[in-house]
Amino acid sequence: MSRRAVFAGGWPLRKLTGVQMVGTGSFLPEQVVTNEDLQSLGSDPQWLVKRTGIRERRHAPAGMATSDMAVAAARQALATSGTDPEEIDLLVLATLSPDQLMPATATTVQDQLGLQCAAMDVSAACAGFTYALVTGMQFVATGCSRRALVIGSDTNSRVLDPTDRSTFPLFGDGAGAVILAPGSREQGALSYVLGSDGSKTDLLCRPTGGSRRVFDPAAANDRSWFMQMDGRAVFKWAVRVVEDSSREVLQAAGLEVGQVDWWLLHQANERILDVAVETLGVSQEKVIKHMARYGNTSAGSIPIALDETVRAGMIERGQIVLMCGFGAGLAWGTLAFRW
Ligand code: UT7
Repeated sequence: MSRRAVFAGGWPLRKLTGVQMVGTGSFLPEQVVTNEDLQSLGSDPQWLVKRTGIRERRHAPAGMATSDMAVAAARQALATSGTDPEEIDLLVLATLSPDQLMPATATTVQDQLGLQCAAMDVSAACAGFTYALVTGMQFVATGCSRRALVIGSDTNSRVLDPTDRSTFPLFGDGAGAVILAPGSREQGALSYVLGSDGSKTDLLCRPTGGSRRVFDPAAANDRSWFMQMDGRAVFKWAVRVVEDSSREVLQAAGLEVGQVDWWLLHQANERILDVAVETLGVSQEKVIKHMARYGNTSAGSIPIALDETVRAGMIERGQIVLMCGFGAGLAWGTLAFRW
């Protein structure tokens, strides 16, 4: 059990306005991997649909890495916002599957896009995009950045055990990007919370490959190199984090649940979203879902949802978008964002 009661207050709620999103982009690899394609792992296609809502996911081809997908998503965001790469003065990239352990994947993206700016990775797993977004927003809101590029990109198929039916089928590869620029005082995060509970790191982690448990080439069969998850425990926690942090953020912003126009929640499992939004009293048509097509794309999940929603012309200026990312850490980030 956590030493302190998670979500019972104590995690600071903050306001961060004066920032707007002026462009979005996303990239999904072409290769579609259906539930049926994964039956050789002992995975049951119908079990996946019923327990997660996932029907298929995308896998990056050999040779395509996290930075490649990030660059593709970023190019689209630059184009849709009419931004010249020269205007970007900050790049923040969220990922749990970097190109390499050192240096930051963001530096490769910076080079590929020809940017002249600071480039950093943010490591907050499936909450990564919300952490990266708030980081970028801080720079813009304080006038330290005029145009910031924020990306969430993950090549999950490379960090999962391809023989493990309980994790491999759940995740997919993909990237999403947004361009931030100064906005009006009404735009941006009317309220947000970023939180973490490191007492539960064991529930979702890749134990080997860092300085605690170094990678041992001799132990070639050591599966601890791959992501491991206590799915049930994370599920229960995730439902609570969506419910409680959304309530907290909305209350701090002076908003009712019914005033949120769109719910862009991390796409880990359809049941997490269904349980949480039912408890909150949210109508289903306001909840964006793409896990059936892409599975869990970790840091890519929320910006992909943002891009698809913006491209469909669904989000209008002035609307309220509730974003909530959650995952390993355990870390979460929830924002009530006025478009
Ligand atoms: O993005 C980061 C945050 N992650 C999450 O939020 C994920 C949270 N957790 C979940 O979404 C769910 O807990 C899972 C999808 C991971 C698992 O669903 P569950 O309903 O909690 O199933 P379970 O882990 O309790 O497993 C039930 C059974 C097990 O068999 P036994 O032990 O009861 O015989 C599993 O081995 O389902 C089995 N199972 C499968 N069966 C067929 C697990 N994966 C599969 C599969 N096909 N692919």
